Amino acid sequence: MIEFDRVSKKYGDTAALTDFSLTAPTAQITVLMGLSGSGKTTLIRMVNKMVTPTTGSVSIDGIDVAELDAVKLRRSIGYVMQEVGLLPHKTVLDNVLLIARIAGQDTATARRNATEMLSMVGIDEQFFARFPQQLSGGQQQRVGVARALATKPNILLMDEPFGAVDPIVREDLQDELCRIQRELGLTIVFVTHDRHEALKIADQLVVLSNGGHIEQAGTPAELLAKPANDFVRKLLGL
Ligand SMILES: Nc1ncnc2c1ncn2[C@@H]1O[C@H](COP(=O)(O)OP(=O)(O)OP(=O)(O)O)[C@@H](O)[C@H]1O
Ligand SMILES: [Mg+2]
Repeated sequence: MIEFDRVSKKYGDTAALTDFSLTAPTAQITVLMGLSGSGKTTLIRMVNKMVTPTTGSVSIDGIDVAELDAVKLRRSIGYVMQEVGLLPHKTVLDNVLLIARIAGQDTATARRNATEMLSMVGIDEQFFARFPQQLSGGQQQRVGVARALATKPNILLMDEPFGAVDPIVREDLQDELCRIQRELGLTIVFVTHDRHEALKIADQLVVLSNGGHIEQAGTPAELLAKPANDFVRKLLGL
């Protein structure tokens, strides 16, 4: 369980977040949806201490992340960025393996985890020796997800991870993500602009306006049945 407790963040004079509180339950997918600049990336980066709150706290299973070592914390949490960020001069397999090695796994374990996660996201062995630019955008996104899973994290942070792929591949990736999430019992915080994606994968859907203000949070069914206001209605295309 990830808890944001009255979190605020100021960048100079800009108040990116004001008094944000939310619980992302264990083994569920929490989707953050909101306009550009509403603080979504800032929020997920607070979980792995890439951003420090100005006030308030973020805790994981009751432990304030401020008390945890940033490097260890980041190794224990999967993070998929919008720009996949694979190392261009390393093969597909090495991209995934390296992260597992950095996290302290021995060579054999890292290799086993890397191949297991690549096959889990649907990357066939024939692609292992290729370089990232020899893959399609969707395949690269899959490798990005495999890499985030290679350290066997319980928590996965995903910031618009499927933005760069076409709608059909995107549907496949969403299906696979939901399957993997159930199989591994992952706690996921997922950022998207896409309402179809949000409604499809969310256990908890959180609609944000500027300053990380929660316009509404609930299950997709709840938001669809009873949108709190025009903002929510508009964002969900109702
Ligand atoms: N390092 C920074 N320095 C100054 N301002 C920042 C910084 N990072 C973010 N901000 C500002 O904080 C606010 C929230 O930014 P954030 O990146 O969290 O939004 P977002 O919801 O992820 O937007 P997008 O959908 O465009 O990715 C914005 O006004 C942004 O300009
Ligand atoms: Mg962002």
